Amino acid sequence: MATTQSYYLTTPIYYVNDKPHIGHAYTSLACDALARFLRLDGDDVKFLTGTDEHGQKVEKAAKEAGISAQSFVDKMSQPFRALSPAIGFTNDDFIRTTEARHIAAAQQLWRELRARDQIYLGSYAGWYAVRDETYYAESELIDGAAPTGAPVEWVEEPSYFFRLSRWQDRLLSFYDENPDFIAPATRRNEVISFVRGGLTDLSVSRTSFRWGVPVPDDDAHIMYVWMDALTNYMTAVGYPHTDSSDFKKYWPARLHMVGKDILRFHAVFWPAFLMAAEIDPPKRVFAHGWWTNEGEKISKTVGNVIDPLVLIDTYGLDQLRYFLLREVPFGNDGDFSHQAMVNRMNGDLANDFGNLVQRVLAMIQRYCDGRVPLAGPLEDADEALLRSAQNLITPVRDAFLRQAYHEALDDIWRVVRSANVYIDQQAPWKLQKIDANRAATVLYILAEVIRHLALVIQPVTPTAAGKILDQLAVNLADRTFSRIGPVGALESGTLLPEPSGVFPRFTELSIPSGEGGG
Ligand code: MSP
Repeated sequence: MATTQSYYLTTPIYYVNDKPHIGHAYTSLACDALARFLRLDGDDVKFLTGTDEHGQKVEKAAKEAGISAQSFVDKMSQPFRALSPAIGFTNDDFIRTTEARHIAAAQQLWRELRARDQIYLGSYAGWYAVRDETYYAESELIDGAAPTGAPVEWVEEPSYFFRLSRWQDRLLSFYDENPDFIAPATRRNEVISFVRGGLTDLSVSRTSFRWGVPVPDDDAHIMYVWMDALTNYMTAVGYPHTDSSDFKKYWPARLHMVGKDILRFHAVFWPAFLMAAEIDPPKRVFAHGWWTNEGEKISKTVGNVIDPLVLIDTYGLDQLRYFLLREVPFGNDGDFSHQAMVNRMNGDLANDFGNLVQRVLAMIQRYCDGRVPLAGPLEDADEALLRSAQNLITPVRDAFLRQAYHEALDDIWRVVRSANVYIDQQAPWKLQKIDANRAATVLYILAEVIRHLALVIQPVTPTAAGKILDQLAVNLADRTFSRIGPVGALESGTLLPEPSGVFPRFTELSIPSGEGGG
């Protein structure tokens, strides 16, 4: 088992101009699975999420709703907070950028930068896309719009600038010295070539609206929403109190999880701000891909936005969590389709894993009076399967630490499939009639293998894994990775509760025909 260490990980903070959709749920889920994994592995974890409540986009949405910006954000941040219990996110804090603790932190970072002459007063004349809260150069526009398709408007106003251009070389050597800072590798290359292309100073204040963090010592300006927002990661661990125990323990963050669309802010601007303020930059930024819906780009105008709560109602929570982390190599784009979801749910979960558990527990009830069987001498096949389950944690840990969730699940399912091959080869239902002791040994091995599978799958399918461990009478205190191997082995004779299915099948008479298929 790994030694105890602190691990601080964050989701982006979500704009409150709209309600949560599958994209928000996905970023947070990727963090949640890792946070759960690390806690089970004995680490001291802090997992942060929250809402990004300033800026023109939110102000505009409040105006459209006909209420004050403050009442609007108070109302709209609620569904994001409520997402955690609904999807089983185990965040330790939920930050809102309108909180006093955050405003103080953002202003302090500003003062540090100003004191070091990293910020100067000038004036901005150029394009701005409110939807992206991003400045664009004329040369970046495509048919008069932002490269993202967002409409742009011409902005001309006094503005403070951050001396980003000074940080180009330092950033490039930072990427070079920290090859794991940006993942996946393709994204890393994109960022490096962007920085190599040359950096211009960044406008970091606005004067044409008021909904933001006031710039210290200059009331006419509010901070650019991205500079404000990025600082949240430090606010939540106590900044500006850099002597606080939380700041010392958790900063620099080990991982900022983001979508590919917001990588530049996290991998270029953020480390530059921090280095300029003489604060350690985060250890890693992972940019995941985007989901489409049945092959189509998700958009409000198309009307195909996916509500994660509806998916949970339709397919189940663990099923959704498993699907999102298994269906695409983490980092790539993915397509959500009903057929693909049902295939995973019925194939991997119900047939492969669920059936295995049910068959084994039912046989233990029937042949062993519902008690953990007594194992006799082990044969090679028993040892091999048991060892593969006991050793599973090593590749799974390695994959989680690289955010390669799909690989971790693939490793786990390799053992699920071996267990299915073993049960068919050993045929304990036949053995029972000719050699009850041997049948008991086989069932013991299978129960132990299932215990290991349930332990390592907990971060992804926490409810079902919990139910399986309940059915094996594993105490709550014995569900961490420290119980992997013989040290946590099931005790023969322990009475087990009546088994019940954990991974139901999706049954629907009319799955849309002609879609997906295999
Ligand atoms: N407020 C900024 C982040 C500030 S962090 C200091 C922001 N907010 S957001 O609400 O727009 O963030 C959305 C998150 O959801 C991003 O990580 C984005 O990549 C992700 N997704 C939005 N749509 C998505 C999909 N269709 N698929 C997957 N993720 C998507 O950006």
